[in-house]
Amino acid sequence: MTTTYRIAVMGGTGPQGKGLAYRFARHGHTVVVGSRAADRASAVAEEIRGRLSAVAGAGEVSGDENVAACADADVVVLAVPWDGHDELVASLPLTGKTVVSCVNPLAFDKRGAHGRVVDGGEGSAAEHAQALAPDATVVGAFHNVSAVLLWGDDDYLDEDVLCVGDSEDGKAVAMELARAVVGREGISAGKLRLARQLEPLTAVLISINRRYKVNSGIRITGLDRAPGAGQ
Ligand SMILES: NC(=O)c1ccc[n+]([C@@H]2O[C@H](COP(=O)([O-])OP(=O)(O)OC[C@H]3O[C@@H](n4cnc5c(N)ncnc54)[C@H](OP(=O)(O)O)[C@@H]3O)[C@@H](O)[C@H]2O)c1
Repeated sequence: MTTTYRIAVMGGTGPQGKGLAYRFARHGHTVVVGSRAADRASAVAEEIRGRLSAVAGAGEVSGDENVAACADADVVVLAVPWDGHDELVASLPLTGKTVVSCVNPLAFDKRGAHGRVVDGGEGSAAEHAQALAPDATVVGAFHNVSAVLLWGDDDYLDEDVLCVGDSEDGKAVAMELARAVVGREGISAGKLRLARQLEPLTAVLISINRRYKVNSGIRITGLDRAPGAGQ
């Protein structure tokens, strides 16, 4: 049975948050688009509803200021830039919620995109969120999924969603949410500290995108040979 969640998307007015909000609602989840300004959130919610008007079974979509958007949410998605991330997370009511971070601390220079070093290499955006919200369950997921494809017309994206977290229950939520994006469960990829690897990996995809003029994604092979696979 499919589980449906009430999901608040922080930074839901940006391309990544808007794309995830669209995919989640299209799959039947209830979504509140969050923003620092309620009117911007409402405008994006209206845009998403417009795309979903003919989709049977789509979830409700509304917009609100970030803190208010979190109020009744089971799941809070962080889709904001790294700059300003900590201030925002510290301001949110996240106790008891599952928090899914797709935040990539990246920098760009004339050689292209690259990962920013967080806490001397001993940290990540997802770990910062967990430290700032110790009573929430933070998971990292959707770091490597392209905003362009999320808002595109493909039914599902041809890639995998890698989910990292210290709580198996929390990770299971993100793995379930991945169904809305790729049509199958996300992959349990390890502990939360592995966000240190997933976040900067997006810089590699950006480099590939520039070289080949594509929107690349990540696909994990070999899982069909796991004991019990395909049963
Ligand atoms: N774009 C992609 O393809 C992609 C792919 C994977 C992961 N990501 C990650 O997803 C996150 C969002 O990406 P994006 O491209 O959508 O980013 P973005 O457009 O730069 O920002 C998203 C939203 O965050 C809010 N925001 C901006 N600065 C803020 C601040 N200082 N404090 C609080 N909120 C702020 C803004 O909404 P309001 O002004 O309405 O509050 C903005 O619309 C990033 O961490 C990025 O690394 C992006």
